[in-house]
Amino acid sequence: MARKPLIAANWKMYKTPAQAQEFVTAFLPLVANHDRDEIILFPSTTSLSVVVAAASGSNVAVGGQNMYFTDEGAFTGETSPVMLKAVGVTHVLVGHSERRHYFCESDEIVDKKLHAAFRHGLKPIVCIGETLEQHEKGQTHDVCLRQIRDGLKDVTAEMAKTLVVAYEPLWAIGTGQSATPEAASEVHAIIRDDIARMIDEETAINTRILYGGSVKPDNIDALMVKPDIDGVLVGGASLDPQSFARIVKYC
Ligand code: 13P
Repeated sequence: MARKPLIAANWKMYKTPAQAQEFVTAFLPLVANHDRDEIILFPSTTSLSVVVAAASGSNVAVGGQNMYFTDEGAFTGETSPVMLKAVGVTHVLVGHSERRHYFCESDEIVDKKLHAAFRHGLKPIVCIGETLEQHEKGQTHDVCLRQIRDGLKDVTAEMAKTLVVAYEPLWAIGTGQSATPEAASEVHAIIRDDIARMIDEETAINTRILYGGSVKPDNIDALMVKPDIDGVLVGGASLDPQSFARIVKYC
């Protein structure tokens, strides 16, 4: 089974519902009939309904940037998987580095969220990646392996059919300094080997591994050439419809 490339926009805490609507109105015609790649938008929670409605019937899917792992309860400020499903969301980001860093999400929490996503039929993109300090100390592989092992506990081959992994080195996020295609590809290959060891070879071959961190219209083509890079998760450069459409249409 060939891995269909996936190009995803993580808008983080940007755009009001009106601005999100404006983006989708401008963006859809730019990617009309584009089916080479899967396209997903991850707006903030308050824009989910608007974006789901605006993208309905198009080739663009919508996901939540985060969720809690129980169905309901006294968890002020949280959003449950049931709530995401109810607004028509199909995907969810789990363990983004900003969640790990600013909101203290551990690998254990990531694992719980991942299993909640599987339980509710939400397709998860699990984010992993090392800090600048870990990168400089040569710990990239160890950190990624630990995050994969502790964050993907008890994931079966059946569950993993919808799993996507995003490698996002923290030192590349929002800095304008992307990992080189060679370096990213090398880490992706190691992640894939580890998925083979943890689950099985077939799952490893079929799991899409995205790169994220300062992906722009001017570096997307070189990244997507690499066979182990199955797509990208884009922050800043996904906020503008023209810029994100150019990324979707990499050569
Ligand atoms: P930037 O593309 O702004 O570096 O953000 C990457 C990211 O964190 C996507 O999830």
